[in-house]
Amino acid sequence: MISDKMQKALNDQINAELFSSYLYLSMAAYFEAENWSGFAAWMKVQSGEEYGHAMKFFKYINDVDGKVTLAAIEKPKAEWKSPQEAFEEAHKHELFITDCINKLVTLAIQENDYATNLMLNYFVNEQVEEVANAVQIANKFKHIGDNKSSLFFLDRELGMRVK
Ligand code: FEO
Repeated sequence: MISDKMQKALNDQINAELFSSYLYLSMAAYFEAENWSGFAAWMKVQSGEEYGHAMKFFKYINDVDGKVTLAAIEKPKAEWKSPQEAFEEAHKHELFITDCINKLVTLAIQENDYATNLMLNYFVNEQVEEVANAVQIANKFKHIGDNKSSLFFLDRELGMRVK
């Protein structure tokens, strides 16, 4: 069993994860249009990962006999000034998602909901990795600056991501 409050918060997180998927897909579309195929490929993999996160919450709510309720997904931004700006926004977004996960953990503790707290452990760890990846890429962009050939090299490197 799960409390109504916890169920609502987990449903909200499904929406946040689906928005993340949508945001990264929008970044992929922007990169495709700008012919940055490697950055686009990286974002498509990331978008799929976010869909997977949403589905983990979806499954968990059903596993504890709750009810999944889907809400409208906010329209994502479609344009960025540069690849660097898009990846910096991705970093900022991951910090926001980490905050959402931390708030869910706080709520699970307040509600004495041990099962949900345990399930959220996966996401606490996952966010450490998500933020670390985003920081690493954002820092690479900072090092590169306006160096076009390094930017092409990074595009190729990120395009090799498969999962
Ligand atoms: Fe599902 Fe990137 O957090």
